[in-house]
Amino acid sequence: MFLRRALACSRLLHRVALAPPLVRRYSPTIYKPDGTTHAVKEELTPLAKHIRDTVLATGPISIAQYMQLALTSPIGGYYTRGQVFGREGDFVTSPEISQMFGEVMAVWYVMHWEMMGRPAKTVFVELGPGRGTLMDDIMRASKRFQSFYASIRSIHFVEKSPELRKLQHDKLGCDWNVTATVGDKNDTGKTPLSSASQRHGGVEVGWHDVLEQVSVDGDCVPLVMAHEFFDALPIYKFEKGANGQWSEILVDVADSNAAPVLPASPAQLRGSLQSAGDDSNASHFKFVRARGVTSNAAMVLRDQRFDSLFDKGDRVEVSPESARVMIQLADWISTNNGMGLIIDYGADWTQGDTFRGIKNHRFANPLTSPGSMDLTADVDFSYLRFAANGRAKCYGPIEQGSFLHSMGIQARLQQLLQSTNDSKVQKDLVDCYKRLTDVHSMGRVYKVLAVLPNSSSGSPVPFAQPTAESSSKPEAASP
Ligand SMILES: C[S@@+](CC[C@H](N)C(=O)[O-])C[C@H]1O[C@@H](n2cnc3c(N)ncnc32)[C@H](O)[C@@H]1O
Repeated sequence: MFLRRALACSRLLHRVALAPPLVRRYSPTIYKPDGTTHAVKEELTPLAKHIRDTVLATGPISIAQYMQLALTSPIGGYYTRGQVFGREGDFVTSPEISQMFGEVMAVWYVMHWEMMGRPAKTVFVELGPGRGTLMDDIMRASKRFQSFYASIRSIHFVEKSPELRKLQHDKLGCDWNVTATVGDKNDTGKTPLSSASQRHGGVEVGWHDVLEQVSVDGDCVPLVMAHEFFDALPIYKFEKGANGQWSEILVDVADSNAAPVLPASPAQLRGSLQSAGDDSNASHFKFVRARGVTSNAAMVLRDQRFDSLFDKGDRVEVSPESARVMIQLADWISTNNGMGLIIDYGADWTQGDTFRGIKNHRFANPLTSPGSMDLTADVDFSYLRFAANGRAKCYGPIEQGSFLHSMGIQARLQQLLQSTNDSKVQKDLVDCYKRLTDVHSMGRVYKVLAVLPNSSSGSPVPFAQPTAESSSKPEAASP
């Protein structure tokens, strides 16, 4: 059975192979830490001042609130800047590394569309599409499967950043003349709302702030993708004290009297990035431990697994916003008979010290220069499955390397290698393949979770059984 499916993946990828290799912007460089420490306070930007004023007015704020402001605030939130991806940006994502990633994803959707009896109407929904590269690759590869491609009615992007919406608009070849926009009349102030994409055969593209705004006809099957979306959603952080009570870790202004609580060094985190050194002295903010039980601790940790699984001194990072999106997604997929892939770095258990900044391809103190760096935390896949329990079937998570291999990425690599005589392009292709699949690079840290309707029968390729709901202890207790 497995062999038959693997052969089917290779056969489908072979059809994608008619397309030539695309030149990507991937840089394999791992940057070295500079070890710099700063005694002088950094500039108080309008966003930093806004956060500081908020803390001074209301007292220390949750990490979730800090994260939300630093990432998506209209007055300088990180994702409002747009050009944050790629070699010149702060980080590189899998679709930005190689076209092979999106091509394999397209084949996954085609296979399941076939297994579902080739529904006549489908819509793609992508959460957090970044520059639009992944959807562009999926659409390009999908064109090789005419009946599938003909079923695609529209693409819906869930994206908060106006700047990234513009990049997605242009990446998909949409035409500003037919694009409905909000914002200023001049081009630079426009934010796309909906557009007819010319490049992809006039498929309608729409933008939404939240998943709840996406509405599709009852007979349209949603094909959902969330790649590196959940890691950007706000997390709360708690520590179990000597008395067995959970205290919340909050963000305070650096010059308050409260004693700082420093999280584990980002250098302890897994992954291919390195720490940029400790610059906490320069920050206007610091982590503190709340006195007494905050309402967040009472609300977020209501589930009894947090009491039974964790010991004194343990820390947990929890993202109720991720659970909210997952519940919505699971209900939506089950109601509309859709399918979804969630791909991100993380683990199948609750972790305690992964909240970090990423800037210039290095880990950074997340409390320095809010708005100037990506803020992220590893995804707790067990929490996503817990949220979806009873609403949809979850499969995995399995490691990205294993997923890509099972879906035939090696066959696709061979086809691309044979399609060019340029040894530099060939070397790049092999480097990219290794980066995506190697266990020491992105192959193990990144995981893939598939979501299918509750009513579905049979497992999606290449997953085995639906993953049973279980509570799990973190890999290692927090320091
Ligand atoms: C790390 S990027 C990943 C981009 C893309 N999926 C990729 O892999 O290249 C995170 C994406 O999620 C979007 N995003 C972050 N928080 C969001 C939120 N709360 N609602 C909607 N989009 C969000 C960002 O603007 C960005 O497009």
